[in-house]
Amino acid sequence: MLTDLNAWKSLADHAREVERLHLRDLFALDVKRAEELTIDAAGIYLDYSKNRITRRTLPLLLDLAHVCKLEERREQMFQGEAINLTEKRAVLHVALRAPRDERIVVNGEDVVPKVHEVLDRLARFAETVRSGEWKGFSGEPIRNIVNVGIGGSDLGPVMAYEALRSYSRRDLVFRFVSNVDGTDFAEAMQGLDPAETLFVISSKTFTTIETMTNAQTARAWVMNRFDDAGAVARHFVAVSTNAKEVSAFGIDTANMFGFWDWVGGRYSMTSAIGLSTMLAIGPDHFRELLAGFRTMDVHFRTAPLESNLPVVMGMLGVWYTNFFGADTTAVLPYDQYLKRFPAYLQQLSMESNGKGVTRGGDRVAYETGPIVWGEPGTNGQHSFYQLIHQGTKLIPCDFIGFARTLNPLGKHHDLLMANMFAQAEALAFGKTREQVLSEGTAEWLAPHRVFAGNRPSNTLLIEKLTPHMLGELVALYEHIVFTQGVIWDVNSFDQWGVELGKVLAMRIVREMDGGTPADPLIRRYLDISRK
Ligand code: F6P
Repeated sequence: MLTDLNAWKSLADHAREVERLHLRDLFALDVKRAEELTIDAAGIYLDYSKNRITRRTLPLLLDLAHVCKLEERREQMFQGEAINLTEKRAVLHVALRAPRDERIVVNGEDVVPKVHEVLDRLARFAETVRSGEWKGFSGEPIRNIVNVGIGGSDLGPVMAYEALRSYSRRDLVFRFVSNVDGTDFAEAMQGLDPAETLFVISSKTFTTIETMTNAQTARAWVMNRFDDAGAVARHFVAVSTNAKEVSAFGIDTANMFGFWDWVGGRYSMTSAIGLSTMLAIGPDHFRELLAGFRTMDVHFRTAPLESNLPVVMGMLGVWYTNFFGADTTAVLPYDQYLKRFPAYLQQLSMESNGKGVTRGGDRVAYETGPIVWGEPGTNGQHSFYQLIHQGTKLIPCDFIGFARTLNPLGKHHDLLMANMFAQAEALAFGKTREQVLSEGTAEWLAPHRVFAGNRPSNTLLIEKLTPHMLGELVALYEHIVFTQGVIWDVNSFDQWGVELGKVLAMRIVREMDGGTPADPLIRRYLDISRK
């Protein structure tokens, strides 16, 4: 078991020593720390000096990674082995960004040509729509694109659209519908004309109840305008692995873009699920995005562990989760364009590593995936940072900032970045009682104004938010999640935990239709809603 490993025990002992140390002292005693506890790779500068670690910590963490066979498991993924054991599937999102001349064989077949065939089809289709050549049923060009999907079929597309808005076609309107709450659909359709609207129905399975309900409502919305089933083929395209259901819906399978069972939903934004992204930013920028993912894939696969961004960040996450009792981790992008990035990472990390049994099916005896959350800076500062600074919980933070803004406006950007640097500094070093008193604060008020500090953070500094760097950033977190899943020995690629609620919801719908639910709460709902 993990906790019986010598590498684990050494870390546990070491953690007891480090617990007593303050980042103020660690910096005072090790003057090169800020310069040397850094990684500068692939256009990302990671400063991890403000972590509660000594120079001994990383080697010990990497010992654990080594003993847990991280390198071997990483190779198994890259080589297409069926590492998703419970679903008996390969896990090959990395193949989605492999160059044309790479060979990745799954079940005897090289998957790279298939990947590029779909990418080429997507590019051709995107150009047809973007050029106005693709016409709606009444001959109008498409001006509105609505992605209908949920989970991995929504969060990647919406996050990427928001992140890359500055690279997108401003004359096209993009909307995203995910929630089965009719409000989501109703509000998304405001101001749109069906004659100019293209729906991209994104669902790996094409059976997800939320997406299928929204897709049927969208179909009715279009039919309401045209009253001709032929309109479906002009206003709907699909991204799915399920050709049968796509065609049963009325979508021409010539306009279906496929992917494969070796692409997990939350790892699918570089598959055909990226169609809405490609429609927004165009095929060339989409290829740059893929190239960014690829750069990070290669870095993860080949960089030595001590200078490997996902490995170092992943292992620091393990350090806090398992040896410091941290339950959550905050991701704090200092860039408004990344406002949906924390939401995207929530699914990526929590659906992957929110597991309580090992790959072998034994109950784990240690903590696994943390709760991931965050908001863009500086909004978070005026909301929840109080708790991070002075609350009772230890919350490791990832700050993400860009040296150059896409919207230079007066002093905004320096002010934004100064805030980010200031937060990392305040968290690490705090403010002592002596400092507070020396500023003339009354004795009784001093405890309220003291900042304990010693609160850890990473800072990622990147030159500019480009499609390439967004790709790197997403792949960085994909591989952080992979690294942590290996240490915790969980299957990061299934999601059985979402099944029970789905099944129960369908049973309750049947009970509601029958009018005789057993639960008084649901009867109460029916009494009120059916009045
Ligand atoms: O929430 C469970 C889940 O299976 C996710 O993993 C997935 O991203 C989402 O549902 C959507 O699934 P689909 O693309 O098949 O509609």
